Amino acid sequence: MNRTLVSPSLLSANFANLQADIEKINQSEADWLHLDIMDGVFVPNISFGFPVLKHVAKLSQKPLDVHLMIVSPEKFIKEVKELGTMMMNVHYEACSHLHRVVQQIKDAGMKAAVTLNPATPVMLLTDIIGELDMVLLMSVNPGFGGQKFIPHTLDKVKELRELIARSGSQALIEVDGGVNLETGKQLVEAGADVLVAGNAVFKAPDMIDMIHQLKSL
Ligand code: DX5
Ligand code: ZN
Repeated sequence: MNRTLVSPSLLSANFANLQADIEKINQSEADWLHLDIMDGVFVPNISFGFPVLKHVAKLSQKPLDVHLMIVSPEKFIKEVKELGTMMMNVHYEACSHLHRVVQQIKDAGMKAAVTLNPATPVMLLTDIIGELDMVLLMSVNPGFGGQKFIPHTLDKVKELRELIARSGSQALIEVDGGVNLETGKQLVEAGADVLVAGNAVFKAPDMIDMIHQLKSL
């Protein structure tokens, strides 16, 4: 069986010394680096934008997993691509023409992922799942790190696993929000492929060891 992929979320890093934290991630077994972009409109918070991310991208040796919590994410496909992004995640709830946005992301040379908020049903992906490289299930309401995991996400992971199998899609399942060793284990058992972890990694006494433990789930 494939090992769990781990994508630490930089939102919980020390913003006064991002370089030190990114270097730790580079030394670790993390598979990707998860970057949360917020606009204060789609979610009630603002994180960081492209002027900061350009520096982050230069320092990171891990593929970038960019999660856009913004309205009209299609306006920034070029900027996201210029960071060297591997996976671009857009919210289902933020795209009126989701099929077009997914095609634009792929045409730009990135992998395409669609993100669902906790109240958005998995079945809404039925007609697009065959086009996706990944689905990101939010296990908290997006906007902040350090929130409590919503247990119903486990049912959504199982439902999505069935939808993927039925449709012959190759999409990975990623989960984001309140992931730690306990919830991470439940998620992997339910069928998750990729775990995003912010607080669990960056607030751990030993980040590198925590990433190792998450990868071993
Ligand atoms: C929340 C972000 C998450 C966040 C996760 O809106 O999408 O990526 O950083 O943080 P934790 O793991 O602390 O819940
Ligand atoms: Zn995220």
